[in-house]
Amino acid sequence: MTQDERQSQAIPARHQKVRKAVLPAAGLGTRFLPATKAQPKEMLAVVDKPQIQYVAEECVASGIEHIIIVTGKGKNSIEDHFDSAPVLEQYLEQKGKHALAELVRRISNMVQVSYTRQKEPLGLGHAVLVAKDLVGDEPFAVLLGDVLIPGKNPATKQLIDVYEATGTGAIAVEEVPREKTHLYGIVDGEPAPIAPFGERLLRIRDLVEKPATEKAPSNLAITGRYVLPPAIFDCLERTKPGAGGEIQLTDGLRLLAKEQGLWAYIYEGISYDAGDKLGFLKATVELALLNEEFGPAFRDYLKTLKL
Ligand code: UTP
Repeated sequence: MTQDERQSQAIPARHQKVRKAVLPAAGLGTRFLPATKAQPKEMLAVVDKPQIQYVAEECVASGIEHIIIVTGKGKNSIEDHFDSAPVLEQYLEQKGKHALAELVRRISNMVQVSYTRQKEPLGLGHAVLVAKDLVGDEPFAVLLGDVLIPGKNPATKQLIDVYEATGTGAIAVEEVPREKTHLYGIVDGEPAPIAPFGERLLRIRDLVEKPATEKAPSNLAITGRYVLPPAIFDCLERTKPGAGGEIQLTDGLRLLAKEQGLWAYIYEGISYDAGDKLGFLKATVELALLNEEFGPAFRDYLKTLKL
C-alpha cells in the first residue's frame, strides 16, 4: 500500500461543507476606550484597513460564501463599510482614480454579508446564538472581529479542513507563556494524531476560562477562530450566564465537547488581539513591515529610532 493510500484510509468520508461564518462584533470595546467611545473597535484601522475587513478577507480566502456579522448599538459604520458607495466611486472615477474606485468597489463585492443585531452585549456565546436562524442547520465558522491572524495559510481554512475531514468541530489554539494562562481560555486536551493533521490535533477533555498558572491544564490558549456544528446552538441555549452575567462561548463549548466531541487544533500562524491596545500596536507595526508599498521605508525608519 502506498503512503497516499494509507493516508486516505485514515481520513473518513468528507462531511458537510462549511459555507458560512459568524463574526461577533457587538461588544463594547472597553479595553480600547476612549477610542471606542463613539466608534466600533472592529472599525479601528490597522495600517490601512479596518480590522473587520482583515477578518472578512480571511473568510473569503478560506472559501466562506456568506458572512453573518453580529452588530449592536453604535456599529452602523460596519454595515456602511461593506455596502456599496456609489457617490464615492463615481467621484473617484471622474477624477481618474480608477484603482482607488476599484479598491472601494471590491470591498462591497467581496462576499455576501448579512447582519443581525445583539440588542445587549450579553456575552460572546449569546452573540453566536443570535446568529442561529441565519446559520440554519449547517456547520459554520466563528471569527472574532478584533483578532487578526495574517498569513497565506488562513487559520479558518485550517479548521475547515479538520471539520470537513472528521465531521467534528475544531477550535484554534496556540501556545502562550505558562505565567500568562490567567489571561486566556485554556484547553485540557489529549493528543489525537490523525493523518494528515498529526501532532497539531488534540481531543478536548475540557476547557477552563482564565486559570491560574498552577491550575492550568496546559499552556494552549483559545485564539478566536472556531468551526462548529449546528449542535452548538442547542448547547448555548442550555448555557446559564457565567462570569459577569454573560453567556460565555467557552461554557457552550464545554457542553459540546462532552456531548459531541471537539478538537483543539494548534494552527499555523500568529494572532494579534487588536481589541487590546498593546496587541493593536504590535499588529500595526508587523503588518506595516509586511506592506509592499511602504514596508521597506517603514523598516528603515524603525532602525533610526533610539530604543
Ligand atoms: P471581547 O471580550 O474582546 O469584546 O469579545 P468586548 O466585550 O467588546 O471587549 P472589552 O473587553 O470590553 O474591551 C470578542 C468579540 O466578541 C464580540 C466583540 O465585539 C468582539 O469582537 N462580542 C463580545 C459580542 O459580539 N457580544 C458580546 O456580548 C461580547
